[in-house]
Amino acid sequence: MRLSVPGRGATAAAIAVAALLTTSAISTAATGTTAPTRAAAPDIPVANVKAHLSQLQSIASANGGNRAHGSAGYKASLDYIKGKLDAAGYTTTVQQFTSSGRTGYNLIADWPGGDPNQVVMSGSHLDSVSRGAGINDNGSGSAAVLETALAVSREQYKPTKHLRFAWWGAEELGLVGSSYHVRNLPAAERTKIKGYLNFDMIGSPNPGYFVYDDDPTIERTFKNYYAGLNIGTEPEREGDGRSDHTPFKNAGVPVGGVFTGASTAKTSAQAQKWGGTAGQAFDRCYHSSCDTTANINNTALDRNSDAVAYAVWGLSQ
Ligand code: TRP
Ligand code: CA
Ligand code: ZN
Repeated sequence: MRLSVPGRGATAAAIAVAALLTTSAISTAATGTTAPTRAAAPDIPVANVKAHLSQLQSIASANGGNRAHGSAGYKASLDYIKGKLDAAGYTTTVQQFTSSGRTGYNLIADWPGGDPNQVVMSGSHLDSVSRGAGINDNGSGSAAVLETALAVSREQYKPTKHLRFAWWGAEELGLVGSSYHVRNLPAAERTKIKGYLNFDMIGSPNPGYFVYDDDPTIERTFKNYYAGLNIGTEPEREGDGRSDHTPFKNAGVPVGGVFTGASTAKTSAQAQKWGGTAGQAFDRCYHSSCDTTANINNTALDRNSDAVAYAVWGLSQ
């Protein structure tokens, strides 16, 4: 894909200049000419992301303990996200489908402006399994993508490319909502999507830092972000094709994302590198009733929420 991002290897002077400027051009005193610069991604407040997770937990608790496809908890989750986006100035679309005899919904949110022929899309599945509230899987990705979209609005960010955000239904039934969306996209619309970024399980309680090894530009973007934090990443290998980037990838869209791990145990080498507990699953509550607001590592959630914004900003200008 023809996307580029600022490297983390910039000189101190360049960093200092960039930090001083939030406008779209650098004026050079000597010549009066201008050169384009880039807007820096905002720091996403993890407290805001956690507040969304508390709301999703309350929604589950008020609806039989889950937010699964076809349930009242799913629809309430969708209405919560949609309400925030509508109030922030997004153009939202609810896409309805049927799976296992129940109605499902995807939520698509477009940020007005940017080149309509170059779309940067970020998504996460919003449904839980029926066993629990699904706060790490996948309230975490859903809340981080929501808060990034709200940051776009707060900053009135005007990227070169068009930004689109999505919350998928029925992922847990086999990527149903995202597959439905891609299947129903006209080819002309599909080719406008220059990148699809997926966020599914990004706050695991015993976290790993995994980057999808797919589109090289998207992968480099996330690796640059982590290099700036001095954190070593590993390629995501816990079940390739197990989330909503897969239908996009199969349709030829460049994809990427980050992941903090599911039921696989953390090795001792990984615990040395990342901290946490060796010999224990990245997420012991994966697909269980204990996937509640207690099942989140705040540091991982904070880092990955900032990674969402870093990639959205970096890939859209
Ligand atoms: N929601 C996914 C699932 O239930 C979780 C998952 C497993 C995942 N492996 C992954 C998400 C790899 C992203 C990448 O299958
Ligand atoms: Ca943050
Ligand atoms: Zn899952």
